Amino acid sequence: MTNKEAMAKINYIEEINRLKREKNAVILAHYYQVPEIQEIADYVGDSLGLARKAEDVDADIIVFAGVHFMAETAKIINPDKKVVLPDLEAGCSLAESAPADDFAEFISKYPDHMVVSYVNCTAAVKTMTDLVVTSGNAVKLVDALPKDQKIIFAPDKNLGAYVNNVTGRDMVLWDGTCEVHDILTTEQILKMKVKYPEAKLLAHPECKTPVLNASDFVGSTSEMLKFAKQDDNKSYIVASETGLLHQMQKDSPEKEFMVVASDETCACNDCPHMKKNTMEKLYMCLKNETPEIHLDNEVIEKARKPIEKMLQMSKELNIIK
Ligand code: 13P
Ligand code: SF4
Repeated sequence: MTNKEAMAKINYIEEINRLKREKNAVILAHYYQVPEIQEIADYVGDSLGLARKAEDVDADIIVFAGVHFMAETAKIINPDKKVVLPDLEAGCSLAESAPADDFAEFISKYPDHMVVSYVNCTAAVKTMTDLVVTSGNAVKLVDALPKDQKIIFAPDKNLGAYVNNVTGRDMVLWDGTCEVHDILTTEQILKMKVKYPEAKLLAHPECKTPVLNASDFVGSTSEMLKFAKQDDNKSYIVASETGLLHQMQKDSPEKEFMVVASDETCACNDCPHMKKNTMEKLYMCLKNETPEIHLDNEVIEKARKPIEKMLQMSKELNIIK
């Protein structure tokens, strides 16, 4: 039997559950993972919820079904745990838009500015950051800072512009975007609105400003889920990644959810990084306990401060998981 044939015979659900028990491991998954990974995970959440969960984990191994910066964040928060990621190549266009050297040069031009970074950045960028935020708390956390505080916001210029609009700030923005959300256009949305006039539009703040302006609700993945569950409309156009529809449909089977298709010929709403993770890779990663996230102690120490500040502030401000 070839290796491929042997792999095809494996019952991944049974094997992953067995290995999880044997190794005292937990699987944390982001809402953008494929449905089968969301179903086998111990916890599914947005970036803020996952960071909070990583803080509380007392298992020996954290299997992070998400992208690299998320697994790094878990390691920074809980450095004594072994953190593994099914595919080390699962990156993020936002994190990649801000190489550490360029970022250091950029912030050196604004010595009197505080550095606020979206969690979608590398550990190296976090070491140069005063406060980390997620899409679930960025508005409230920035709003809670002293009004005369000058701020640099990186790396997502769309989220930064959204926070500026809502809070009336004038943060200096790093020029980075999410390759999945930034390509969604108002033309596409208009076409869908014509086709589904009753549907409400939900958008992630990584979308461009005109898309956000056309939306009925803007929020993180968790916030969109909560809105869709509690709202009494029957149909929704979702300006975000396809994986989110799994939980939305599960929560409200009677409602209709559609993603904004950026192009009829492509699966553009699938994050190519999030979708690198598969059940087969999840199984192999749990079995071999690799690839593992390794970070220098010095990086962990420095990067932890702005994340702890975020967790502390979001607890004080009572921001949802
Ligand atoms: P959330 O903060 O909503 O989980 O989003 C993370 C992300 O990568 C969105 O593209
Ligand atoms: Fe990064 Fe965008 Fe993928 Fe989220 S959806 S992980 S921001 S590339």
